Amino acid sequence: MTDPRLVSPARVDDDAQYEAGLRPRRLDDYIGQDRVRENLHVSIAAAAQRGEALDHVLLYGPPGLGKTTLAYVIANELGVPIRTTAGPVIEKPGDLAGILSNLQPREVLFIDEIHRMAPSIEEILYPAMEDFELDIVIGQGPGARSVKVPVEKFTLVGATTRAGLLTAPLRARFGIVHRLDFYTPADIEEIVRRSARILDVPMDADAAREVAGRSRGTPRVANRLLRRVRDYAQVRADGRISLDVARAALKLLEVDAHGLDEVDRRLLLTIIDKFGGGPVGLGTLAAATSEEPDAIEDMHEPFLIQLGFIERTPRGRVATARAYDYFGRTLPGRGLF
Ligand SMILES: Nc1ncnc2c1ncn2[C@@H]1O[C@H](COP(=O)(O)OP(=O)(O)OP(=O)(O)O)[C@@H](O)[C@H]1O
Ligand SMILES: [Mg+2]
Repeated sequence: MTDPRLVSPARVDDDAQYEAGLRPRRLDDYIGQDRVRENLHVSIAAAAQRGEALDHVLLYGPPGLGKTTLAYVIANELGVPIRTTAGPVIEKPGDLAGILSNLQPREVLFIDEIHRMAPSIEEILYPAMEDFELDIVIGQGPGARSVKVPVEKFTLVGATTRAGLLTAPLRARFGIVHRLDFYTPADIEEIVRRSARILDVPMDADAAREVAGRSRGTPRVANRLLRRVRDYAQVRADGRISLDVARAALKLLEVDAHGLDEVDRRLLLTIIDKFGGGPVGLGTLAAATSEEPDAIEDMHEPFLIQLGFIERTPRGRVATARAYDYFGRTLPGRGLF
């Protein structure tokens, strides 16, 4: 999914070349998500002590929060290789069977967007995850028979932005399930400072705080804003990112103090102006804003919910009093008196 927004949590082309270099490789360099980190420390140490493969791990949460990064960190901490694939990429059951039968002992198999796997392919995974064997059907029709082929004990790390779309049998086969949440301002600030160090750009502490505050609690957005601010500092100043430089750059980039941009404002104003504040169904909202329902649900809305601007109710999306405040408006019915 390409999304040209500066504050989009989705990965855009330009991110790819930087992300590899900015990705923490060890758990101790992985900033924030303390509960997840602590739990993984224990699970990984225990597996290592027993000399066993780590239990299968499911990581879920909004885009850009560090699921892929964490998959690589896990393999690194376990000292094992990692193979990467993605749900939509696996076309035939045989493709997955081929990958599984070639895994090294204790290797990590990372399946990104695991909710987008076809059912026929998912079924290959069940016996592989549970009993470390493949059920291979040989022949066709009445003469067909099934043989069991062992695979090495491996760790499946699955990542998804939509845990709700996972089938129950697949979900049940993950022994370790962690949800990644939006980062706290302090954690994002630390990520900005770390990235500035790696990119070798001088940055004042208050400038790091300013960039962090507009990054939607999302490391990918933080790193992208940092790169744009760095450009500005280089071209319009002496290369150093001071608070003034950061503010001027962010103003030019039209990212507001909450990290909201035009798309966010359009979504909120559509709910407020066209639908009286809601509730409005996802499909209707998508049609009214010319956005894809999936993009609204995966990319735009999670942070607006986190900010408390939108509520998801059984009858649809509702704009909250905070959203009205943001536009300097009064929630109908609340009145002034
Ligand atoms: N805990 C962290 N500490 C420092 N940097 C991080 C952390 N988590 C993520 N990042 C940075 O954010 C970038 C995006 O993270 P990552 O690609 O792992 O997100 P993701 O959750 O897999 O996103 P998607 O859902 O789009 O696949 C990484 O390249 C990395 O530089
Ligand atoms: Mg990812």
